[in-house]
Amino acid sequence: MSDKLAHMNSDNRLKVYIETYGCQMNLADTEIVLGIMSKSGYSPTDTMNDADVVLLNTCSVREHAEEKIRQRLSTIRSQKPDKPNLVVGVLGCMAERLRSNLLDGRKVDVVVGPDEYRRLPQLLEGALAGNQGLGVRLSRTETYDDIIPFRAEGISAWISVMRGCDKFCTFCIVPFTRGRERSRTLAGVVNEVEQLVRQGIREVTLLGQNVNSYRDGEKDFADLLAAVANVEPSVRIRFTTSHPQDLSDKLIDTIAAHDNLCKYIHLPVQSGSTRVLEAMNRTYTRDHYMELAKRIRARVPGVALSTDIIAGFPTETDDEHRETLSLMEEVRYDGAYMFKYSPREGTPAYKMGDDVPEDVKTKRLSEVISLQQKISYEINESLVGRTFEVMVDGTSRKSDEQLSGRTDTNKTVVFPRGTQKPGDVVKVKIDRVSMATLFGEVVCIHN
Ligand code: SAH
Ligand code: SF4
Ligand code: F3S
Repeated sequence: MSDKLAHMNSDNRLKVYIETYGCQMNLADTEIVLGIMSKSGYSPTDTMNDADVVLLNTCSVREHAEEKIRQRLSTIRSQKPDKPNLVVGVLGCMAERLRSNLLDGRKVDVVVGPDEYRRLPQLLEGALAGNQGLGVRLSRTETYDDIIPFRAEGISAWISVMRGCDKFCTFCIVPFTRGRERSRTLAGVVNEVEQLVRQGIREVTLLGQNVNSYRDGEKDFADLLAAVANVEPSVRIRFTTSHPQDLSDKLIDTIAAHDNLCKYIHLPVQSGSTRVLEAMNRTYTRDHYMELAKRIRARVPGVALSTDIIAGFPTETDDEHRETLSLMEEVRYDGAYMFKYSPREGTPAYKMGDDVPEDVKTKRLSEVISLQQKISYEINESLVGRTFEVMVDGTSRKSDEQLSGRTDTNKTVVFPRGTQKPGDVVKVKIDRVSMATLFGEVVCIHN
């Protein structure tokens, strides 16, 4: 028996530390993994130095994301001489993409992809006894519906309602690392929301790579949203990410009809050029997208929209790049996540080459970013003098004297500390703004 197993048998629970990279679905998966691990007798720790098992839940979406993990693994390994029994594991999308390659060189002890987390305790037991472990099969059915996630205390919770993606955008690695689309049951999700509400959660975010593709028999995502919204009208419900192809009128009307469904839609466009959108296999044209954005604005007054944009997709011309800028001017997003195209081996776009020179990509990305910063600032500036209901998150990052919270349109609001606690809703009148934050004074308190 290894020292570690002897340690475990002495009733001193082994400690597991997880670092999470990538999207919110990875954050939600980390909670599922910690749920599985705690049930198997491990205790979660926030301090890597205390840990017997260190897991990195990784992202493969761009090369840069993977480089960060490689560096992190080297750093962790360099600490290994004084921790000879430390077990290091890679989870998530990089585990799924690189599989046993990650085990070469013995830097990593276990490699477990997103659909095999139930096997982690067994694989870790092997690793603690000195055997490397690999679990990277994808599943058509795994949704972890019955796993109780291990959640940190707070007022917000995430729930992955569907997993995988069947869209196969040509640039994207996700369908290969997360497998096919599948959904949790509507009853299972509603039940979890009910429990969370009983535990004091004030905000729930429903997650999926492509959340609008949610299906449970005849029930679609609009039905799920309505059911979740009805659990407790004072609990805010958010969701992400929406693919433009599946954002139905029924869904728009459902958002409009429930006060607690947040008036904020993340609607990635990727490019403003119909030719590029086609090369990306995004399945909509610029005109379709614009009509959708207009319909949303008409039916959901005050709605905030955000997006994702890729600069320098293969074959993108200067004119096509300018179409992205003009679309941004037309839609006027409240915020955007903006990236340089990063070729991912195995995706269809990889075969198109990476023909936009690096300096051109950099220039296009910086133009996209500056334009978005200008628009975000202008939108925020137009809100000065308005009063918003703000749900308190906690202390402002910059000062203990200030609290911070969010509007239902997902804007961060900072205001002087009073007696409010996280989860309370306060009315704040905005008196100044920056590109990313609104500042104001509380005008009256209710909860
Ligand atoms: N499911 C979501 C997004 C998943 S990945 C959706 O469909 O919108 C998040 C974002 O990363 C994408 O929207 C895209 O803008 C970006 N992205 C994905 N692959 C990329 C790549 N190869 N290079 C650069 N950005 C990429
Ligand atoms: Fe990737 Fe497209 Fe699926 Fe989003 S919809 S995860 S961008 S393949
Ligand atoms: Fe990254 Fe995987 Fe999410 S590639 S963005 S962690 S689904």
